Amino acid sequence: MKRTTYLAAILITAIIVTVSSCDSKREPGKIYMPDMAYSRAYETYAQRDSSIFTMNPAELGDKIFYNNIPVKGTIKRGELFPFTVTPNNNNGLIDSNALINLTSQIKNPLQPLSKIDSTEAGRLFNINCAICHGPKAENNGPLAPKIGGVKSIVAASPGYSDGRIFYVMTYGQNNMGSYASQLDRKQRWMIVQYIRTLEPKAATTGSSPAKADSATVKK
Ligand code: HEC
Repeated sequence: MKRTTYLAAILITAIIVTVSSCDSKREPGKIYMPDMAYSRAYETYAQRDSSIFTMNPAELGDKIFYNNIPVKGTIKRGELFPFTVTPNNNNGLIDSNALINLTSQIKNPLQPLSKIDSTEAGRLFNINCAICHGPKAENNGPLAPKIGGVKSIVAASPGYSDGRIFYVMTYGQNNMGSYASQLDRKQRWMIVQYIRTLEPKAATTGSSPAKADSATVKK
């Protein structure tokens, strides 16, 4: 008898709970731990709530500082160290001997490319550069007549340091734009090595053609 009463009581409670919990679907009910329900962390692609996040360091404390920019002095994992030479003029041209000297002091940080990497460097060159410079790094790519003023890379590059070629790719030069956003640093250094393989072979004197930059200013 007693057992039946218990069972009945449990059954009735269960029914009440079930029925009452699906009472109103429109009201989510009370959240008793909002921090767990809604993350205060920045959600990818979510619109930033200006009542929580701020780009103004002065508002720090009340709000979370977030400006999408990597912390100064940090680099992403696996990325090469930044190129330290920056243009000292508005047009970004490598137009002073001081700049040429600076770039020539920066060595290519990569080991000589393996066969696979070299193929990859060639692929990157053909995608990004050959459209203007042609597959042999000259000035006969299909886009060259439209752009105008395209120069042969290999005509100049034997006299250029690795750093200088990297500089041109990074900041652009006259009609050529910067490739810093399309190619990461490693890819740009790989292309520098690839360009070396396209340069004309050393003259019969046997001396290395890749001398450091001459002191003359070339634009
Ligand atoms: C949109 C066309 C275009 C593309 C694409 C392009 N360049 Fe250029 N490039 C030029 C032009 C134009 C010049 C000549 C700039 C000048 O007047 O000094 C030039 C010049 C250069 C120079 C300097 C030559 C010299 O005599 O000083 C180098 C090095 C170079 N390009 C490398 C590259 C590399 C590497 C890539 C691929 C990442 C590339 N370019 C992609 C148009 C292009």
